[in-house]
Amino acid sequence: MQIHLFQDKQALDIAVAQEFVRLLQQHPHCILGLATGGTPVGMYARLSAACGRGDISFAQCQTFNLDEYVGLSRTHPASYYQYMSQNLFSKVDLPLSQCHLPDGQALDSIRECQAYEQSIAHAGGIDLQLLGLGHNGHIGFNEPGTPIDSLTHVVQLSPTTRYANARFFKNAADVPTQAITMGIRSILNAKRIICMVSGADKAEIVRRVLRGTITPDVPATLLRNHPKAALFIDRQAASLL
Ligand code: PGA
Repeated sequence: MQIHLFQDKQALDIAVAQEFVRLLQQHPHCILGLATGGTPVGMYARLSAACGRGDISFAQCQTFNLDEYVGLSRTHPASYYQYMSQNLFSKVDLPLSQCHLPDGQALDSIRECQAYEQSIAHAGGIDLQLLGLGHNGHIGFNEPGTPIDSLTHVVQLSPTTRYANARFFKNAADVPTQAITMGIRSILNAKRIICMVSGADKAEIVRRVLRGTITPDVPATLLRNHPKAALFIDRQAASLL
């Protein structure tokens, strides 16, 4: 796995945004895999600005997000649809019909998972997948132990993940207990992957991801088997390497 190290979060945001800018300029019809969480917010702001300046257009691309909470409507303030809407979709020229997230309110969530996987395949697969990294090594909502061959599926969220995400909800008890997430295989199917990590609180997991055994118990270690996966990290996240 390639490692790209940056002085600070700002430099990290600029570098990851540049990767998306370059892809959109060279391949306007590209398929983007997007992530939520605190880490990519500044990067999305830079992409929005680049689109505002006319440097890039999202008009012809399609986006597929990694995951969505089960039970939240698209209008719920903590839904990942709202996050994407606020941080990117409402700020760029991407037609909403080309933005895809799993439907957390689907009556048949198993069928929703299959349909989501099929729509990614139908679009031609993901050209560039953005990932964050959970403190337990999760990617998307694939918690430790998720099988390597998993496709989009419903997951039970671990207590640590629910705790980490409680900051986006009024009460910790409001964090849903389940989510729909792309699986490990769905992620590894992407042609290119950028995992973006920032901050000293991620230094220990970054060390395990890069130096530890490759195992589903630390899902992000599986990225080391992908020929075009890269870790983009700031100095703080790299402090234990
Ligand atoms: P974060 O989340 O960007 O909010 O740290 C990353 C993740 O859990 O995937």
